[in-house]
Amino acid sequence: MHMRFSAPTKCAFSCCLVLLISIFTTTCNADESEFRTNFINNYKTFQFKAQENLILKSGDIMADEIFSLIIDAMDDDISIGRRMFLLDAASAMASGYQHYHGGGKKFIRKIDKLIKKELEKEAARTAELMKWKKEERFLGNFVMKTHEAELEEAGLAPVIYPHWVHRIWYDCSVCHQDIFIMKRWRNEITKEKIQAGEQCGVCHNGTIAFGANNKEDCDRCHIAGKPEAERLHNADQVDNKHIAEIAKQVGAEWNADKLPDGRIPVDEYGFIDWLTLKEKGIFKPIESLKEGYKQEIRDNQILFVSKSKLENVLFSHNVHSSWIKCKSCHPAIFADNLKNKVKMVRMSKGENCGYCHGKVSFTFADCKRCHSQKKGVEVEGALAHIGQPRKKKK
Ligand code: HEC
Ligand code: HEC
Ligand code: HEC
Ligand code: HEC
Ligand code: HEC
Ligand code: HEC
Repeated sequence: MHMRFSAPTKCAFSCCLVLLISIFTTTCNADESEFRTNFINNYKTFQFKAQENLILKSGDIMADEIFSLIIDAMDDDISIGRRMFLLDAASAMASGYQHYHGGGKKFIRKIDKLIKKELEKEAARTAELMKWKKEERFLGNFVMKTHEAELEEAGLAPVIYPHWVHRIWYDCSVCHQDIFIMKRWRNEITKEKIQAGEQCGVCHNGTIAFGANNKEDCDRCHIAGKPEAERLHNADQVDNKHIAEIAKQVGAEWNADKLPDGRIPVDEYGFIDWLTLKEKGIFKPIESLKEGYKQEIRDNQILFVSKSKLENVLFSHNVHSSWIKCKSCHPAIFADNLKNKVKMVRMSKGENCGYCHGKVSFTFADCKRCHSQKKGVEVEGALAHIGQPRKKKK
């Protein structure tokens, strides 16, 4: 970390100081000076009187103290929050130095500049993060930009992969696990593989769907952050005629005439209600790109008897296995028995039901959609989830 002070006459002095202080900070970074500890403590707890006394008796060491505090604040390895705190403390120290001892003006200017620069950087960072967060606001939309540098160089935006657009024509089993492992960033998707007809290129080859070789089509995938991406976040903007055409082409169905009020039904969170679409026969996706494939369905239900105050949870093997292959869940997410540990904390970390719910399927906020069965009431024919057997007492 290099500090540059503008006044040229102070250069020799400053360089010396930088050297000294970098030795100082590398050797005794962990235990800061007694002055700094006391100053920061007073600063944090608003001990104005104690601070005044401390400053009054420390005039001769304060320039060095301010300098070393700035250097520590600009260390690459600390968090932005810590940096801003240290810079604020340094600023207070420099003001005190100026007020009681008449020095420290150049420090104040320097620190103000650093703080301003950090705030600008932070604003840019937050905007950058929020931009991509925003592009993932529609459930199941994934921003893909693992090749950030190459994309920037080619002047291309990151890709949005919209699960929902594809789900209209394709069951999960079409892609998982034959084309893609059901895990983000695990498939190492590249332009080369796509153009060779793998990954997205299995379909995006100019025959089943637009290809990845035509200049005009690049931006249909490389679209994140562009105004045109808006329609990938809004089920109301679909072109029913186009969906129906593609459906016909791939062997699926889209019966827009059955849509309630002509709109794709959404839940109270604004996400597509796929079960209603299915029940009303509005769509019929294909199950596989392979001819003669037949989805294996397990026609039973599992009742999770809740240990919580909430209602019990009914899991339908039938519903789930009608779109998802057994091997997408077993054994990767659940052992195929009734003894898995299923807990909300795990779900919130993306395990158990949280492997899909909250990422691609309806969110956790919708408690009642899972906790839907009255306590104490048996569900006919349902298996009971019994959890892990307790360890036997010796
Ligand atoms: C047209 C292909 C396609 C279809 C159909 C599809 N997916 Fe995906 N899925 C993907 C891709 C691509 C990824 C991201 C892979 C990567 O980043 O390496 C993915 C990732 C996932 C992930 C991982 C999420 C994470 O945070 O790790 C889950 C879960 C998932 N899909 C569930 C589903 C479910 C459930 C369905 C059916 C309702 C489905 N997918 C249908 C292509 C598809
Ligand atoms: C199983 C086939 C299949 C796979 C695999 C697939 N897609 Fe698609 N995708 C389609 C079809 C079909 C369309 C509709 C094309 C159209 O509207 O002309 C489509 C549409 C899209 C759209 C919407 C474009 C628009 O303008 O509306 C995007 C974006 C997209 N795909 C990205 C991807 C990406 C990225 C991947 C790989 C991570 C991928 N797709 C994998 C079949 C597939
Ligand atoms: C069907 C969607 C799709 C289309 C169409 C498409 N790409 Fe991509 N492209 C991707 C995906 C997905 C990635 C991987 C994104 C990531 O994680 O970095 C990618 C990555 C890239 C990369 C990064 C380098 C690399 O090796 O992966 C470049 C460069 C690129 N694409 C160029 C193009 C150009 C040029 C076109 C048009 C001629 C195009 N792409 C069309 C989906 C697409
Ligand atoms: C995708 C389905 C699903 C959703 C949505 C869901 N839960 Fe659960 N929850 C379960 C399952 C399965 C269990 C395990 C059985 C049990 O102990 O209740 C569970 C267990 C619990 C438990 C028991 C303690 C624990 O951590 O396992 C509590 C409390 C709970 N859920 C609260 C909630 C609340 C509050 C919401 C809404 C914010 C919610 N759940 C949404 C499926 C879900
Ligand atoms: C969406 C994920 C998912 C899919 C897909 C799925 N299962 Fe399961 N399976 C579960 C869950 C959850 C349990 C219950 C776990 C527990 O209670 O500990 C379970 C339990 C089981 C069990 C023990 C209970 C029983 O039903 O006898 C078997 C066997 C089983 N699965 C087989 C299958 C087969 C075969 C398929 C494909 C036809 C399949 N599963 C598809 C999630 C899934
Ligand atoms: C591999 C992905 C995946 C996993 C794991 C998964 N689900 Fe689902 N679930 C889906 C999909 C896809 C749907 C269809 C609706 C949607 O996407 O919003 C669905 C629908 C549901 C529904 C509504 C349909 C119905 O049966 O009434 C419930 C309730 C549900 N899941 C509960 C659970 C519970 C509880 C677990 C964990 C024990 C779980 N799911 C695990 C993908 C998954």
